[in-house]
Amino acid sequence: MRGIILAGGAGTRLHPCTNVVSKQLLPVYDKPMIYYPLSVLMLARIREALLISTPQDLPRFRDLLGDGSRFGMRLAYAEQPRPEGLAQAFIIGREFLAGGPACLILGDNLFYGQGLSTVVRRAASITSGAAILAYRVADPSAYGVVEFDAGGAAIGLEEKPRAPRSPYAVPGFYCYGPDVCDEAARLRPSARGEYEITDLNRRYLDRGELRVEVMGRGIAWLDTGSHQNLLQAGTFVEAIETRQGMQIACLEEIALRNGWISAAQLRTQVETMGRNGYADHLRRLLAEEMAA
Ligand code: DAU
Repeated sequence: MRGIILAGGAGTRLHPCTNVVSKQLLPVYDKPMIYYPLSVLMLARIREALLISTPQDLPRFRDLLGDGSRFGMRLAYAEQPRPEGLAQAFIIGREFLAGGPACLILGDNLFYGQGLSTVVRRAASITSGAAILAYRVADPSAYGVVEFDAGGAAIGLEEKPRAPRSPYAVPGFYCYGPDVCDEAARLRPSARGEYEITDLNRRYLDRGELRVEVMGRGIAWLDTGSHQNLLQAGTFVEAIETRQGMQIACLEEIALRNGWISAAQLRTQVETMGRNGYADHLRRLLAEEMAA
């Protein structure tokens, strides 16, 4: 399974903060936003990913993440000339995906919590059809919404409904079988002129090939769509990291635990990282490895 991180868009809701900087490069407490979704792909054991962003922002992402080898990944980059919808990722990413299954994560979605790795790994293990997540929220009207029947089977999907039929929003993590690019190519733009991910998911639902896993309350799914949400996400990360003395979305740590980079490689890298909380965490980790 290969991954796509979609990190474009106009970001107008966060102006003036995003006038000259991509939204997904803004800090969420102590690291750029893009680290969080990237870490989720890594937890799902996806090593090859395509990062899609605007022509102006793409070079910044390349500067930040490089070829991904620092954290054991292979990263490629592609431009989305205009923000014409999330499902366009599969038009732009067709060549990269090379006819295989795909996992799309949105560059502004933040997930954290007990059992997250199991959930995303299970979704990323599909070989056909589609697997999406559902998460109970207080106000689902800002999201894709999934409706279930009494037996818990998904029976409907709507994008930003005025009157949601369920409290279950669909987070920005989606897995598909090898036919996803063909299915995306059949979509028509919605009333707001976008190739909608919800329309793509509905195609799988109609075929009876959509799996929906409800994420429990032990997992946090946070939004970064407004100044308030962004601040709340940063505060959340600060609270957990300070309390536990751990890091959320530390890419090198996940790579080490996945066996993608060696302790020796990490030690060399840490030497160039300066003195900051992120690097100090990695130093502590290496010292613990030595002691074990
Ligand atoms: O966050 C989950 C939600 O994401 C889902 O529940 C919705 O079904 C889905 O449509 C999407 O809703 P949003 O309103 O959050 O979509 P937005 O247009 O804000 O785009 C999400 C991210 O993707 C954002 O960081 C910008 C980026 N993006 C967006 C579009 C439309 C792109 O990179 N390219 C695009 O063409």
